[in-house]
Amino acid sequence: MKTNPVIEGILGRRSVRAFQERAIPREDLEAIVACGQWAPSARNRQEWTFVVVDSRARIARLAEAMRRALGRDAYDMYAPQSIVIVAHAKGAEFGREDDGCALENMFLAAHSLGIGSVWINQLQGICDEPAVRDELDALGVPADAEVHGVCALGYAAAPGAAHERKSAVVWVEE
Ligand SMILES: Cc1cc2nc3c(=O)[nH]c(=O)nc-3n(C[C@H](O)[C@H](O)[C@H](O)COP(=O)(O)O)c2cc1C
Repeated sequence: MKTNPVIEGILGRRSVRAFQERAIPREDLEAIVACGQWAPSARNRQEWTFVVVDSRARIARLAEAMRRALGRDAYDMYAPQSIVIVAHAKGAEFGREDDGCALENMFLAAHSLGIGSVWINQLQGICDEPAVRDELDALGVPADAEVHGVCALGYAAAPGAAHERKSAVVWVEE
């Protein structure tokens, strides 16, 4: 198979779920979020806001509100070093698709910088729980936004496992 640094990066990325307590340089976070902004979006609408939270304490407060809303005792969002919340205009027609593109761009950018990442899905459906919305408000997430995914970031404390790819590929020629 043909390869190059971009393909190697795509094939080498893994979801990371254990993070070191080690600051991510600001310029690395800036590059990661810029890659999110440069993702494709349906009709180029770009109806998203990227909220970068570079504070373990603020992340822990959000995770605490989520833990209560979810009723999951040990939930801590994996205690990442930083997160990028992708906040999308509520009800936007292609919001989920746009956010998926932005998140994957950020995962790949992070991986290229030696930083681990994982998609955090649990804000879906609980953004408007009052205690969760209070925390989102405090972080600057627009009141009319919903969150389909959060990019959790940090230097890996344990490597992500490689999962075999088993999806079918159908080739049609002529
Ligand atoms: C829509 C979506 C939601 C996901 N939500 C979570 C999540 O909430 N927590 C988590 O640990 N991983 C989550 N993941 C990551 C997947 O579990 C992971 O991508 C999959 O197991 C394959 O592993 P890999 O990313 O290392 O290739 C999510 C991935 C996607 C695409």
